[in-house]
Amino acid sequence: MRTHDRLRIAIQKSGRLSDPARDLLARAGLAFRESRDRLFCYGESLPIDLLLVRDDDIPGLIAEGTCDLGVVGQNVLEEQALERAAEGKPEAYRAIRDLGFGRCRLSVAVPNEWEWPGPDRLAGLRIATSYPQLLARWLRNQGVAAEPVVLSGSVEIAPRLGKAEAICDLVSTGATLMANQLKEAAVVFESQAVLAAPATPFGDARAELAAMLLRRLDAVLSVRA
Ligand code: PRP
Ligand code: ZN
Ligand code: MG
Repeated sequence: MRTHDRLRIAIQKSGRLSDPARDLLARAGLAFRESRDRLFCYGESLPIDLLLVRDDDIPGLIAEGTCDLGVVGQNVLEEQALERAAEGKPEAYRAIRDLGFGRCRLSVAVPNEWEWPGPDRLAGLRIATSYPQLLARWLRNQGVAAEPVVLSGSVEIAPRLGKAEAICDLVSTGATLMANQLKEAAVVFESQAVLAAPATPFGDARAELAAMLLRRLDAVLSVRA
């Protein structure tokens, strides 16, 4: 059983958010026994440990209490919050700080040769995405009925495979879209990395540790801003 006199932070093991997340925590004075290839990094300077996981798993790890805090894209957090709400589950976590890195947008992209008069162009078509909830909310707001095709990865090749006419995926530099002869047509959600915490405050020693970590993070973030 885990004791609650240490704080456990989940970050992405490898990907766009990994290095900036580790860098931010280092600037806040956290040092870990190095084990880049392991899932768990023991905190040496403070009783704060790291768990290195897939970004998509972070909201669930916080919801079930396996981790106390997480550095994750707002896109992943919001998608899973909408999914929980749709299933009638209570709010389990919230974003408590914007971290200013990992900026990207969830956008609808269409084949280069399409004309784009507006979102109505998508009516009745199939849109491949890993973010069905965020896409569905946007389509509802636009008053457009389209069919989401849920894929967990390689969404950008769906049009060429004949699985969908358009896609809705994250765009950072735009290189992935360009390589797949797609163009960004509409922004569905603007995202950046956030610090996520449980919706219910800690009722033990973790509360003081989290408060101290936040004071340190705020000092680092205010210098950067
Ligand atoms: C996103 C998205 C694209 C890529 C776009 O994946 O799914 O593959 O980034 O970036 P670009 O515009 O700079 O080419 P991400 O890195 O978030 O990884 P994940 O979907 O596996 O979590
Ligand atoms: Zn991911
Ligand atoms: Mg990807």
